[in-house]
Amino acid sequence: MIPNHVIKKSQQRMDPYQTEGFVLGKGSSTPKIMLIGEAPGRNEVERGEPFIGRAGDKLDDFLTLAGLSREEIYITSVVRSRPYHIREKTNQDGTITRKTPNRAPNKKEMLAHAPLLDYQIQHLQPDIIVTLGNVALKRLLGDSYKITEVHGELLYQPIYYLQDDKDTTYTKTEQSYSIYPTFHPASVFYRQVLQETIEKDFTNLRHLLS
Ligand code: URA
Repeated sequence: MIPNHVIKKSQQRMDPYQTEGFVLGKGSSTPKIMLIGEAPGRNEVERGEPFIGRAGDKLDDFLTLAGLSREEIYITSVVRSRPYHIREKTNQDGTITRKTPNRAPNKKEMLAHAPLLDYQIQHLQPDIIVTLGNVALKRLLGDSYKITEVHGELLYQPIYYLQDDKDTTYTKTEQSYSIYPTFHPASVFYRQVLQETIEKDFTNLRHLLS
């Protein structure tokens, strides 16, 4: 459903940056809910699907609490390629071990894939956009928003989009959107206390939907 020229252009825009692969969003073409994550990880770029592996399993548990299945929602992310660091270590025998762990996308990478996310939001027109973590929240509402302050609250506001793909700053939409921020499901792997908080947010989402 995303035209090929939009995809091709976005892939070219990402060329200068240290990222790999490309994962399109997935789900319903008439979604009540659109989930926006950060960027795909290694498993996702290997399989070409968003949120699989450990973070995906967590997300599925939370979706169950909201009474939602993947088929009725749409899942995407701010950046669609995997941003990575290069870590090289010289071993005792002189050989070099190279690792390429995931990292959060930077502002330039977010800008490179902005036309893709903007296109999906405009064309899918979900009833509620659920941002997962600070990256998606700040991309749509700006840097003054913090997930710790607004998670679990239904906001209704204009969002940032790229008016022209040559722009380097975002513009606010005329239309207002319903935005429901919560934490990224992978955040529970390094802050276990967030499990309960995210469960509450998704349970509350179920009530908002009914
Ligand atoms: N995190 C994301 O934001 N998206 C994925 O697809 C996987 C992990």
